[in-house]
Amino acid sequence: MGGSKTSPKAVILVGGEGTRLYPLTYGIPKPMVPVLNRPFLEHTIAYLRKYGVENIILASSYLPEVIQDYFGDGSKLGARLTYTVENNPLGTAGAVKNAEQYLDSTFVVLNGDIFTDLNIGAMLAFHQRKGAKATIALIQVDNPSAFGLVETDSDRRVTGFVEKPSPDQVTTNWINAGIYILEPEVLGYVPVNSHYMFEKGLFPLLLKQDEPVYGYPFSSYWLDMGTPEKYLCLNHDLLLLKVKSALINDLSRDKVCCDKEAAIHSSAEITGPAVIGSKCQIEQGAHIKGPVVIGADCHVGERANIEETVLWRGVNIGAGASLKHCIIGSNTSIEDNDQIVNRVVTPDSRPR
Ligand code: GTP
Repeated sequence: MGGSKTSPKAVILVGGEGTRLYPLTYGIPKPMVPVLNRPFLEHTIAYLRKYGVENIILASSYLPEVIQDYFGDGSKLGARLTYTVENNPLGTAGAVKNAEQYLDSTFVVLNGDIFTDLNIGAMLAFHQRKGAKATIALIQVDNPSAFGLVETDSDRRVTGFVEKPSPDQVTTNWINAGIYILEPEVLGYVPVNSHYMFEKGLFPLLLKQDEPVYGYPFSSYWLDMGTPEKYLCLNHDLLLLKVKSALINDLSRDKVCCDKEAAIHSSAEITGPAVIGSKCQIEQGAHIKGPVVIGADCHVGERANIEETVLWRGVNIGAGASLKHCIIGSNTSIEDNDQIVNRVVTPDSRPR
């Protein structure tokens, strides 16, 4: 970790229901959605491990048992995981307050739906250099109206916030990236067991109290995967090597990464980049054109065409069906000869 002696702990906020990803996230917490056939959260934990962060608190309020069953104590990923669970969602800052007993020195907070390769060591060094109580990572976007704007002075000290501004309120295009470094004492400003948010509650209060809050601008990869378009974009960006996951190191451009246990007919044509999971069956004359991800236990029927699409596990694609730019949820069946473009399809939703 660049410059610091001990690695900070991190809190990942994994409590959202993923409403913007419905119906894909019915019954699964958003951080468990598969990205290149591994839970999104596993990529995030590997990212933190890359920067030396070992002690990670998963702050959850929605289906925590699904997350715990998969990750356990985290030792398989070289991490030490602690779980905190809210009976009712406490909001972003309230969830961290709920983990206060584990936070006795400078720590990192990550929104659970952010994929980034921000250098945490460099951000921590900035935080320490400035003597900040809170440092907010800032990323520049073209259209900031759906985000929280963060205004700073020439020393990068935060001077104001504008949440989801109308066009005439846009004073900057630097937005809150959902990654923070905090000193434990700021949690003294957060009410116990109450719903409380960083963006609208704690950070404006810290400014009022004249506490040193700084913005750390960065320009490396950043994406909030919380909508179907962004989720698909993340899978494509990883396959096209626009960004690397710390979890997966055998991808290369145009390559087809196929599990040994997949059965692919010799006449099927597969153009990478593609990831094909275990026990998949790909039948005669099927065409797959990357970027494509095919989950475990999928069946792709004869002459089916799949392009720029992500299939979750256990999907059945009928003979002659054609899919372009789609996300197909687990255990969905697509009928023979169906033609589907730009859609999310799950067992609960009909393709047309
Ligand atoms: P959803 O799509 O419903 O998850 O909402 P969102 O992505 O718009 O979430 P928001 O921006 O409000 O929250 C940012 C991050 O904090 C997301 O990763 C959420 O999962 C997480 N989060 C939000 N509210 C809570 C909460 O009450 N408790 C916990 N533990 N996490 C939360």
